[in-house]
Amino acid sequence: MTHSAARRAPLLAPSFLAADLANLQAETEMLGRSAADWLHFDVMDGRFVPNISFGLPVLQAVKKYAKQPIDVHLMIEEPQHYLAAFRDAGADIITVHYEACPHLHRMVQQIKSLGCRAGVALNPHTPVALLEDIAADLDVVLVMSVNPGFGGQAFIPNTLKKVAQLKELLLDTGSDAFIEVDGGVSLANAGPLVQAGADVLVAGNFVFAHPDGPLATLAALRNHLAGE
Ligand code: DX5
Ligand code: ZN
Repeated sequence: MTHSAARRAPLLAPSFLAADLANLQAETEMLGRSAADWLHFDVMDGRFVPNISFGLPVLQAVKKYAKQPIDVHLMIEEPQHYLAAFRDAGADIITVHYEACPHLHRMVQQIKSLGCRAGVALNPHTPVALLEDIAADLDVVLVMSVNPGFGGQAFIPNTLKKVAQLKELLLDTGSDAFIEVDGGVSLANAGPLVQAGADVLVAGNFVFAHPDGPLATLAALRNHLAGE
């Protein structure tokens, strides 16, 4: 691959969606001792996606025990109404969906003015080329490798091509945004994703439902990627 020289060490972002939600303090403290770099927090509103997860009070609770930056993935309509509240509740990175934002430039500036890093997420059918005129303003581009709304779905193989295309677009536009991949990530696709240009790998079920447990699974992912 052509981009290996410029690549950063890949970051791991376990997703709370797959954690034991009845023991979030213990789960957050455990992640604090793990190989996780960011803590991924999936917010679903039952409108933008056909599922409801958790929101502001849960983020506030988790933040009290979090050691790593919290990466808030807003799968909600009209996210502009909630940006300040998510920052106040503990978000360090706020990612909104391209498909939910007719005024995406304004949204990104709003997130940055709150002191958070700004991300834009793309659904599996949304071409990366649509980000050409905003790429240089972004801190993160999140490529959905499943249809958003549920954990535990199968990875969509076309994501590898999208990540490579996005890497080219970021180089062409002078953007240093992180490429984050979310959905169905496991040891089976982590290597190829990083080879294609991914900087941040979100993993829910693979980490939390693995028989070896989350600590050993995150360490295994980290070791696996150290060789990439
Ligand atoms: C899906 C969420 C993901 C989810 C990933 O809509 O955005 O972050 O937690 O879970 P897995 O890794 O199980 O696909
Ligand atoms: Zn997510």
